[in-house]
Amino acid sequence: MVIISESVSQTKKIGGKFSKFLERQDIVLLKGQLGAGKTTFVKGVLEGLGYKKLVLSPSFTLVRSYKTGTILVNHIDLYRLSKKNLNSIDIEEYLYNKDSISIIEWGKKIEPYLEKYFIVDFSFVNMEKRKLSISQKGYKRNLKIEL
Ligand SMILES: Nc1ncnc2c1ncn2[C@@H]1O[C@H](COP(=O)(O)OP(=O)(O)OP(=O)(O)O)[C@@H](O)[C@H]1O
Ligand SMILES: [Mg+2]
Repeated sequence: MVIISESVSQTKKIGGKFSKFLERQDIVLLKGQLGAGKTTFVKGVLEGLGYKKLVLSPSFTLVRSYKTGTILVNHIDLYRLSKKNLNSIDIEEYLYNKDSISIIEWGKKIEPYLEKYFIVDFSFVNMEKRKLSISQKGYKRNLKIEL
């Protein structure tokens, strides 16, 4: 499905609505250029899952984990990681934890190793407008997101 965001707050709102379809052990890969809105979307997802505190970009730390209720949300950014170094953060520990949901910026790098995942692909329409294309592989969720 495709949905257009006209602002930062709309991208968060879409993230929040998307979060309602997520279940434990889900993996969400985020694609799209620098500044496309991936981190903004994750903020909305976390808010939708009930996380109320500050959410920072994991660009430097590679992973930030947030606990909300009994769920652990792993926000991962693979931008700085080469494919060869994927092992260096023990990514499987995060992805296959039974109580966690993982959302991965620059997730394309690990796509070949995964069986099931969502993809949210962000593209620029103009300064404020983004096109979000949401698809899934291996899941059969009946996604319906409207602003
Ligand atoms: N509709 C929109 N949705 C999201 N961000 C928007 C939108 N319009 C403008 N922006 C701006 O685009 C930027 C998006 O930044 P964000 O950190 O979410 O991008 P990113 O995809 O995570 O980038 P990076 O690859 O560097 O991590 C922000 O500066 C935000 O203000
Ligand atoms: Mg980011």
